[in-house]
Amino acid sequence: MSDTIQSFNPLDQALLQNPYPYFHKLLEKDPIHWSELGFWVVTRYEDARRVVIDKHFGQGDFIRNIQLFYDDDFDVLAHPAYAWLSRVFVMQDPPDHTRLRSLVAGALSLKRIRAMEPRIRELAREHLDRYAQEGHENFITEFAYLFPTMIMCDMLGMHDQAATPDDLRKLNQAIADTFPVFETRALSVEELDLADRQMKFLIDFFDGLFEQRRREPADDLTTALVQAQEGEDSLSPEELSTSVIGLFGAGFETTAHMIGNGMYLFGKHPEQRERLAKAPSLAASAVEEFLRYESSLQATYRTALVDEEIHGQRIKTGERILAILAAANRDPRHFDNPDRFDIGPREQKPLTFGGGIHYCVGAELARLEGRVFLDELFSRYPDFQVDSERARLRPAFLFRGFEYLPVELGDLV
Ligand code: HEM
Repeated sequence: MSDTIQSFNPLDQALLQNPYPYFHKLLEKDPIHWSELGFWVVTRYEDARRVVIDKHFGQGDFIRNIQLFYDDDFDVLAHPAYAWLSRVFVMQDPPDHTRLRSLVAGALSLKRIRAMEPRIRELAREHLDRYAQEGHENFITEFAYLFPTMIMCDMLGMHDQAATPDDLRKLNQAIADTFPVFETRALSVEELDLADRQMKFLIDFFDGLFEQRRREPADDLTTALVQAQEGEDSLSPEELSTSVIGLFGAGFETTAHMIGNGMYLFGKHPEQRERLAKAPSLAASAVEEFLRYESSLQATYRTALVDEEIHGQRIKTGERILAILAAANRDPRHFDNPDRFDIGPREQKPLTFGGGIHYCVGAELARLEGRVFLDELFSRYPDFQVDSERARLRPAFLFRGFEYLPVELGDLV
């Protein structure tokens, strides 16, 4: 390991392939790193947690934050994909954040999520059986994406609009093409153009769904949000489609890769897979270890809302800080043997779902999906085979996962 520390660059091929050696360098030698791209990068658990939770760090001026990646003349809101991002509540500070979050948080309460378990189990079985019967090869597109998407469709009541696997694939693709706007860099002209076109597609798609729910209310989250639009809380039409697209995307992109990354890890660590086969009660801690060891969301941003200091380093008002959650999850100051993949219960929780006022509203749902998936996989297809050597990563820093992962489920028992 050489002593020079390269400036953080989310396009660096070595970083995309395996970010952890670089994270360890930052953790040990440059915990408050200045990237030549114009922002701070923190990696230690204690610092990343503080940046995410402390009220002195927030979202700040959205337009300035995006212009930082381009230049001062870049017309951020002229791009539908960035205009959408500017309204997503994860990008807002209170009081807007509080109002919008409270509208969806009720639908994702622990009680409601627990009540969804039988349906989630049914969907896991149905999609595993379909994968096995149709002899699919790519577990990412043919299971990991479809399973959480179906759960979000259920929650939003989208059965008529997204009735076939082809409809779902189109929606999955549209989210995958628009979510690069969350990335920590300027997008290429082609990437931004695609994101803009796919955002228009998503807005049209969801506007159709809202129209239908206005005419025919149902017992689903979409109807509740459409009705909130008419009530005192008064969601604007843009806020309505923004929130639903945000929920829909957040609900599957990260969860799909949590499942994909977990399967990849079982392919790489057969002894851990054997452990779970012998002790199914370890499913919950196995999911927690997928989230810690190979987090499907690597990082999140904050802006300093006042002049601050982190370990003596001055951070000026308006400067941005990237908190690398995946590096914090490998910080030896916080976790024993952080580079060992071990599905046994750990005392310390990973930082994968963030913290503070933006703590992931879907964390319990994602955990439940992961656990139910493992229960059903191990009980129905105990001989599954994962070919991790042939897996292909997506070329993205922020949402870490695979685009191709060959899995054979074998026979149903
Ligand atoms: C493995 C799966 C998931 C991971 C790793 C994940 C990660 C995160 C993280 C780190 C944040 C905080 C971002 C920040 O502080 O800047 C967040 C927020 C959020 N997540 Fe998740 N998430 C997952 C699943 C889900 C699911 C299933 C849903 C919805 C059903 C969801 C909806 C949201 C929403 C709406 C927010 C914004 C919360 C706010 O700003 O108050 N997430 N997620």
